[in-house]
Amino acid sequence: MSLITLGALTAGGLLLCSEYEKKQLKVRRYEISHQKIPESFDGVRLVMLADLHARSFGEKNNRLYEEIRALAPDYILTAGDMILKTQPFDTEETARFLGKLAGLCPVYCGNGNHELKLRQIKAGRRTAYDWYTDSLRKKGVRVLSDETAVLERAGGRIDVTGLDLGLAYYGKGFHVPMRPDYLVRKLGEPAEGRFHILLGHYPNYFPEYAAWGADLILAGHMHGGTVRLPSLGGLMSPNYEFFPAYDRGLYRQGRSAMVVSGGLGTHSINVRVGGNYPEISLICLRRKGQARQEKHGNQG
Ligand SMILES: [Fe+2]
Repeated sequence: MSLITLGALTAGGLLLCSEYEKKQLKVRRYEISHQKIPESFDGVRLVMLADLHARSFGEKNNRLYEEIRALAPDYILTAGDMILKTQPFDTEETARFLGKLAGLCPVYCGNGNHELKLRQIKAGRRTAYDWYTDSLRKKGVRVLSDETAVLERAGGRIDVTGLDLGLAYYGKGFHVPMRPDYLVRKLGEPAEGRFHILLGHYPNYFPEYAAWGADLILAGHMHGGTVRLPSLGGLMSPNYEFFPAYDRGLYRQGRSAMVVSGGLGTHSINVRVGGNYPEISLICLRRKGQARQEKHGNQG
């Protein structure tokens, strides 16, 4: 067998694997305990979605909807890039899907780089971003654009903030240092003593998010590193960063934690290989010191 034939067979095999993996759905489970989590939030279940990129699992995303419904979430949080920045834009099916999820429980959406790029697409007197986010709001979905929502349960409160990270920070293959006052100028100071979740699409700024005061960061963007290699993890991020530090899973720094979703869809490099299944993240909040009644899940 010639090298060319062997190469072609290997490439064909990897593409077949990728097509199989892209159709799967995997629930990754995390437990986050923190002393700032109020008693009334102990055991609360958050479903985090990221990087759907306008994909559909089943007709009108019915398969994805049923998987999420079966998890009985108390809140659904999206960490950005649920749509594609295509022109002409086509966001209505994703908006309808998120609106349907809002029938299950409150849904809060943060913006990724794809949502922010919709602001550059003119559609009449408005932008594609205006059309998309207005549609979400009409369907009962809360969009957090450099905004904070307060979640309340039986007198207990936690905050959820959506960060619109400037597009200049998404360096193609290089890291752009963040201005020291950037997060405070955009978001203000987090409320003292309250558990604070940050929807920060791009995980590479974990140290900055933690220093700002986020207790739990929910991120995506990395698509699990596209191709996962044994012992080495994700090979490449969508912005061509090789072996990214935060490719998928749970990370900790001081008292802050970050869950990076492997994402649901793909774009540009439409490949998922090496157990890089589309992901629904289920995060159970625990007040530190409370007895645990649920088993730990897979944190891989
Ligand atoms: Fe992204």
